[in-house]
Amino acid sequence: MLKERPRSVVTGASGGLGRAFAVELAAKGASILLADINQVGLDETAKLVERAGGRAFTALCDVAQKEQVEALERRAHEVLDGVDLLINNAGVAVGGPVGEVPLSDWEWLMGINLWGVIYGCHFFLPRMKRAGSGHIINVASIAGVASAAAMAPYNVSKAGVISLSETLAGEFVGTELGVTVLCPYFFKTNIAQAARSTLSGGAEMVEKLMARSKVQAPQVAQLALAAAARGDLYAFPHPESKAIAFMKRSAPELMLKKLGPWLASRSRT
Ligand SMILES: NC(=O)c1ccc[n+]([C@@H]2O[C@H](COP(=O)([O-])OP(=O)(O)OC[C@H]3O[C@@H](n4cnc5c(N)ncnc54)[C@H](O)[C@@H]3O)[C@@H](O)[C@H]2O)c1
Repeated sequence: MLKERPRSVVTGASGGLGRAFAVELAAKGASILLADINQVGLDETAKLVERAGGRAFTALCDVAQKEQVEALERRAHEVLDGVDLLINNAGVAVGGPVGEVPLSDWEWLMGINLWGVIYGCHFFLPRMKRAGSGHIINVASIAGVASAAAMAPYNVSKAGVISLSETLAGEFVGTELGVTVLCPYFFKTNIAQAARSTLSGGAEMVEKLMARSKVQAPQVAQLALAAAARGDLYAFPHPESKAIAFMKRSAPELMLKKLGPWLASRSRT
């Protein structure tokens, strides 16, 4: 369960959804340690947090480096005197068919999207357990359920984040610890610009899908925090992500066949 003014750590906080989380938490009066590899973006987010009524600290941290995540945990306890909420949000994207995506891109993405989340849970949980409370929001994606073509590294990493979160939910039964796994559909951020891809036209299609989405980053953050406050394991902020999750459970092979053409038509209309 989430405290009212949670002492929070947000990774990937220089922009996009991480910044939206930070601003939303600041409006609740939270103190937040903002972590990212981009110091300029961190400073901008820190200003927005202070303006929205929160208290901001920043830390340069590459979540793919376990020593840096371990150091982030120590710093969080120095500046916040305890962590009520960890948001494992940092993430990147890779596009292209299996066999064409360079292994170095697979490794880059898995280091951030999957190992980064594993390190976050690994290093922050022991002290949360000793404190007897704490909540983790792991940012996955509906991609981890949908398994759309030509984005295998991203899909695999997000399926791993969902599985890790589900496992934690079982481990937390009977405790005051909680976990929420966030599975959004597209929303507008810088993720496509930072992506590595072997596809021609892939980034443009993603940009269109992101721009046309009716639920954008601030609302995704609000819905995720509301889900965490209720103690929900799953947060599906978009109608599309709810529909995909339902289809995957009820008619998985049909969903996998129809998904590619459906996404292509959504990016055209
Ligand atoms: N935008 C979407 O459509 C969408 C959909 C579903 C899920 N997500 C997920 O939302 C999360 C946030 O992404 P976003 O869309 O805001 O993208 P973004 O590119 O705008 O933000 C990602 C942030 O992560 C940071 N980052 C990158 N590598 C890092 C590293 N090694 N260590 C620490 N920070 C690092 C970047 O500097 C950036 O500030 C990701 O996990 C992403 O997979 C995004």
